[in-house]
Amino acid sequence: MKLSVAPVVTLDGELRPPSDKSLTHRAYLLGSVASGESVVRRPLRGEDCEATLRCLEQMGLRYRWLDEEKVRLIPAAQWVQPGEPLDCGNSGTTMRLLSGLIASREIEATLTGDESLSRRPMKRIAEPLRLMGAAVEGDRPPLHIAGGQLRGIDYASPVASAQVKSCVLLAGLRAEGTTRVSEPSTSRDHTERMLAAMGVRVSIGIDSVSLAGGQSLQPFEMTIPADISSAAFFMVAAACLPQGRLLVRDLGVNPTRTGLLDVFDACGIPLLMGTERSELGEPVNDVEARYVSQKRPFVIEGDLVPRLIDEIPVLAVLATQCVGTSVIRGAGELRVKESDRIQLIADGLRRMGASVEVFEDGMAIEGPTLLRGTAVSTQGDHRIGMAFAIAGLLAEGETTIDGAEAIATSYPDFERHLHSLCVI
Ligand code: S3P
Repeated sequence: MKLSVAPVVTLDGELRPPSDKSLTHRAYLLGSVASGESVVRRPLRGEDCEATLRCLEQMGLRYRWLDEEKVRLIPAAQWVQPGEPLDCGNSGTTMRLLSGLIASREIEATLTGDESLSRRPMKRIAEPLRLMGAAVEGDRPPLHIAGGQLRGIDYASPVASAQVKSCVLLAGLRAEGTTRVSEPSTSRDHTERMLAAMGVRVSIGIDSVSLAGGQSLQPFEMTIPADISSAAFFMVAAACLPQGRLLVRDLGVNPTRTGLLDVFDACGIPLLMGTERSELGEPVNDVEARYVSQKRPFVIEGDLVPRLIDEIPVLAVLATQCVGTSVIRGAGELRVKESDRIQLIADGLRRMGASVEVFEDGMAIEGPTLLRGTAVSTQGDHRIGMAFAIAGLLAEGETTIDGAEAIATSYPDFERHLHSLCVI
């Protein structure tokens, strides 16, 4: 499927972006091991989260849609061995977090994924799960896991990854003794917050999280806030299009996710915040972003990287509109996401006329550039597709994006929102 994007006059309006992908995964996963029935309102109905739900169903979870936006999760008294391989589709979160839950149960399962997921590194979770006592075959998908009684470990993860941290913590829920995870920089802490809201005693240290095995998880009701990683696309468009303005409603503003707002501040992009509220331990707010003509360049490195890891493709587009050189370093993880995001975004933006220098762990982008529309491809990566669409709004001429069906992974209504927000 192709998406064609023509330049627009501006972007103006209000948006409730799709619900948070990370939180939807966790609501399904933790709801499936709670001590009773939970209700999830407004889960993200994208491919990745649907894969999580389907895999859990294969192991005994039942669910019932109460209306179009509300699902009741009915956990199995005992997980059952899946009769077929668990297809995680394109979703790293599904495979990595689910592995933690499977490893701590007396079942065997094979986890598979699409072509992109099959290339992604799984040793990062296989290793700690093996140390805990699970039998895990495969350092890349397919993974075969034979679970059982685990023992708690003290694990220093070499990467700042919420998927690794969450996998180990989820395995630790049924392990003997205490499980502790530390990481080089703090990654998103949704799992810890949701566990705490479900009554699990989670200890948060300066650079580590720990919990004791054997605790019970109370069921919950939750409305999933909007995803800052999806909102980022139209927020960048509003900041770059003259007279642009976007009010984002119900935005999840967990501080481990809001690096984007820090970058906007560094650029001098005006942001207006509403009154903060909370949803099952997650801060939520309304945020308005506005256009500014002279945007300062920015630097992304160190602890900021995990706080905006999924927003880097669209921040690279923003960098092409800043006055001066923006630098992104310490983001080598981008090379093992749904695609090699450093290479793909750099290649595409260069073809659109941007000046981009590529490093192993990031890039330097010199702006401002008047981009030129051209033909690009998502290569199956949703965020690459949406970043190019935003670049297309700012470019001269038409941009055509091949493989646009990938966008539905995290933002099924992207094209509809694009048309309703843009002024042509
Ligand atoms: C996610 C964590 C991040 C992020 C991914 C979702 C999660 O990955 O890129 O889209 O839900 O935990 P890493 O934690 O592996 O960096």
